[in-house]
Amino acid sequence: MNESIELQDKTFVRYISAAELGIIVSQLADEINAYYSKFQLEIILVSILDGSFIFMADLVRKLTFPHKIHFVKLQSYDDMESTGQVKVLLDLDVDVSGKHVLIVEDIVDTGLTLESFKGMLTNSDPLSVKLCTLLSKPEVHNDIVDLDFVGKEIPPEFIIGYGLDLNGVARNLPDIYKLKI
Ligand code: IMP
Ligand code: MG
Repeated sequence: MNESIELQDKTFVRYISAAELGIIVSQLADEINAYYSKFQLEIILVSILDGSFIFMADLVRKLTFPHKIHFVKLQSYDDMESTGQVKVLLDLDVDVSGKHVLIVEDIVDTGLTLESFKGMLTNSDPLSVKLCTLLSKPEVHNDIVDLDFVGKEIPPEFIIGYGLDLNGVARNLPDIYKLKI
């Protein structure tokens, strides 16, 4: 496996291996299973596209409670920065009123995406809304968003791989790489 890769005139170095990601996802699944195991109603999982598609696919195969899987496509990032605005590119196709919802995100940077999506969902009167993210950058969002299940906290690095992209590419990398500064 490459220790570093060149992409769009930038160098990225290997940061979180596929093996470590496997362990992180298994631990998260254990926590989520423990929390939802006693719920009587089926849970609505909402994956935020595009970045979370690989994480979601790995996570749901480890879940043991009844659930349904839905997707929304939100966009807040342009190049390597948050634009400060969240655009809904593909809306939710399920009525969440009276349902328990778990939102699944790849990474929380400013927290804007999750915060605004949670706000949109809350308008539909769900019974509960919980947030799960594979990665979190607490130094950037300063806990403005209340995260319920977090895989790993990282410093404010720009990272790619395992679903995360640089201008649409590199999502397929099995390991996560960080920008070398
Ligand atoms: P937030 O709204 O600032 O929390 O940004 C969240 C979204 O921006 C995530 O869902 C990712 O799609 C994207 N994002 C945040 N940090 C990174 C990164 O380091 N690499 C690639 N995408 C990122
Ligand atoms: Mg995302």
